[in-house]
Amino acid sequence: MRDNPFSKQYMWGAVAALGPHAARDLAIYFATIAPKAANDGDRNLAARGRTIYLEGIPEANIVSCYACHGPNAEGVRDIPRLGGLAYFYLKGRLEQWGQGYHSGVESPMPLAASHLGPDEIEALASYLSFVK
Ligand code: HEC
Repeated sequence: MRDNPFSKQYMWGAVAALGPHAARDLAIYFATIAPKAANDGDRNLAARGRTIYLEGIPEANIVSCYACHGPNAEGVRDIPRLGGLAYFYLKGRLEQWGQGYHSGVESPMPLAASHLGPDEIEALASYLSFVK
């Protein structure tokens, strides 16, 4: 369902032939791999990103992320882990919702990301890239 350019170019074709059993086996395999932080964000922005992650910015209508993604960005069931993902990946994802790309049916993310400005995106992506 993700319709951003990279998904269309690479992932749509890569998984087109995956059946439910192969998808389940891959998910089980990925879940066994210990997460490792990408550590590629801007360290100077990490503290600001952590504050936004935990508290949001109520006066700017920015919701806190931790209620859904977990106190340490570890993810909860089908809400994905964010801790340790690469800065560039996180930044791109957060920008894409603002550009109108979709990710799944009834995702809360287009709304959650819609009030984030470039500075907040930089700070959040930086912070999360260092989370173990
Ligand atoms: C109401 C619950 C909720 C809130 C609040 C929320 N998220 Fe999400 N988030 C989700 C769900 C569900 C998904 C998976 C569906 C999707 O990708 O759209 C997701 C996906 C994501 C992804 C994509 C991860 C990937 O692997 O591609 C990122 C990045 C993200 N959220 C960041 C944030 C940030 C930053 C905040 C705070 C500003 C936030 N989220 C607030 C529920 C939430």
